[in-house]
Amino acid sequence: MIQKGSLFIAVVVVLILLTTGCSAKDSSKPENGKKAGISDMQAENPASERLQEMLTDYPPVIQESIMSDTDGFLALVKKALELPDEIFVMADKKHALGEDFIPEDLVPLTDYSALTLSRKNLKLRMIVVPDLLRMVADAQKEGLTLVVSSTYRSYDYQKMLFEREVKLYGLETAERESARPGTSQHQLGVTIDFGSITDEYANTPPGKWLLQNGWKYGFSLSYPKGYEWLTGYRPEVWHYRYITPVGTELQRRYFNDVQQYLLMFINENRNRLREILDLF
Ligand code: DAL
Ligand code: ZN
Repeated sequence: MIQKGSLFIAVVVVLILLTTGCSAKDSSKPENGKKAGISDMQAENPASERLQEMLTDYPPVIQESIMSDTDGFLALVKKALELPDEIFVMADKKHALGEDFIPEDLVPLTDYSALTLSRKNLKLRMIVVPDLLRMVADAQKEGLTLVVSSTYRSYDYQKMLFEREVKLYGLETAERESARPGTSQHQLGVTIDFGSITDEYANTPPGKWLLQNGWKYGFSLSYPKGYEWLTGYRPEVWHYRYITPVGTELQRRYFNDVQQYLLMFINENRNRLREILDLF
């Protein structure tokens, strides 16, 4: 009798537990079908866990800066994802632009008398101009002239440059210094070579000023020292890509100030980040 009684109680307890468990689970289910999928996924795999997964292949220093401030990071990523996708599009040894990729809003820089140009036929995308003018004016206030030496390059012009480099210095050197046609950031119309386009530019007052201040205006050094293994190019102290001030803030605060890591991360994870931020 005692055993039967205990069994009965045990069965009742199990039934109660099962019922409460089920109803608790059911009541957490969102009603809206589409949102339900995302919310369920987030509930099972919260933002920080999902970020950690996205960061598996990134250096510990980057993982650490993002994971120690996931809220700050996601707030900035949200702003970045609200910009046109093309701001972060990749043009590098693994990601080629089409032969016919020509930005639509190219403007001749001779339209802007505040700019100092090394030659006349230079063009950039209109989206770069306001921050460029701001930067040039602020440098000028400190008595420094930022000379704009090379800007937008068409596919064909880049082809000519690369072939000339191969002829002059051989393929191996050319590959380290000049992009093959279709893979140059200059084709994007947002990239500028400043000053002498030589290593010595790093030691000039404008070169030093740019390195310290360019980020405030959204200009990012594309090929920094120590990252040839990642970017494919030897350091270019004169070559800056405009990625907007939101982009450069992300790069500095969370990607060890390496543009390539920022671009890789955004492009590998754009949709997952939108899910976390509910940006669909
Ligand atoms: N010098 C850089 C890599 C370019 O040709 O775009
Ligand atoms: Zn360049």
